[in-house]
Amino acid sequence: MQRIPEPELMDSEAQTLAYAQSNFSESNQMFIDILLAKCPDLPSTGSAWDLGCGPADITIRLASALPGWQLTGLDAGANMLLRARESLVDSPQAAQISLRQAYLPDPELPKACSDLLISNSLLHHLPDPNSLWQSIRQLGKSGARVVVMDLYRPESIQAAAALVAKYVADAPEVLKTDFYNSLLAAWTVTEVKQQLTDNGLTQLQIHTPTDRHWLVSGRLE
Ligand SMILES: C[S@@+](CC[C@H](N)C(=O)[O-])C[C@H]1O[C@@H](n2cnc3c(N)ncnc32)[C@H](O)[C@@H]1O
Repeated sequence: MQRIPEPELMDSEAQTLAYAQSNFSESNQMFIDILLAKCPDLPSTGSAWDLGCGPADITIRLASALPGWQLTGLDAGANMLLRARESLVDSPQAAQISLRQAYLPDPELPKACSDLLISNSLLHHLPDPNSLWQSIRQLGKSGARVVVMDLYRPESIQAAAALVAKYVADAPEVLKTDFYNSLLAAWTVTEVKQQLTDNGLTQLQIHTPTDRHWLVSGRLE
């Protein structure tokens, strides 16, 4: 099935509110659990960046799992970052997290500053996927860990509709549509492997932890 791109930013007040109020706890916690399993030897302190952090649910979960670390949640959307700020207000992890508005790629961002780069559900929004992989190379220290997850595009629109029925049948219509459009905009595992090759990241591994997600992990050289 041919890829149908989505609008890059989902930053109206209504969209960001609907997204922030949705319950992605299962896949967000799965992301953290896989990260901790893939990186069992993380030091007790370090710096991590969450690229396209959205409302910062994963950023907060990671800060909770790594209490000695400092995290930067980066997102291009001003309204999305407002939602992230709201999530941080009562969070015990607030002191560990700073939020930064930036549109990737951004050559003004620091270089080689981060020990761990994470990103969830950003890649399928990007018109040029190299923006994410090059940003990871820019921000990551030598040897930095990388964990990136996103949806993969099903074989057909019927298969996409079946995933919507299986996973979000009871969700509000706006979220069903968003999930369907995201599946159609997603990159396949083959395409992601090619992106990794194009960006000199062939040491990173990809696997499919669920029937709709791929996950890339490994270390920068
Ligand atoms: C589907 S949300 C994912 C949010 C979060 N990572 C999560 O898992 O809940 C994608 C996010 O990427 C952001 N985004 C899209 N294009 C971007 C870009 N070029 N630079 C930075 N952020 C971007 C959007 O504003 C949005 O918040």
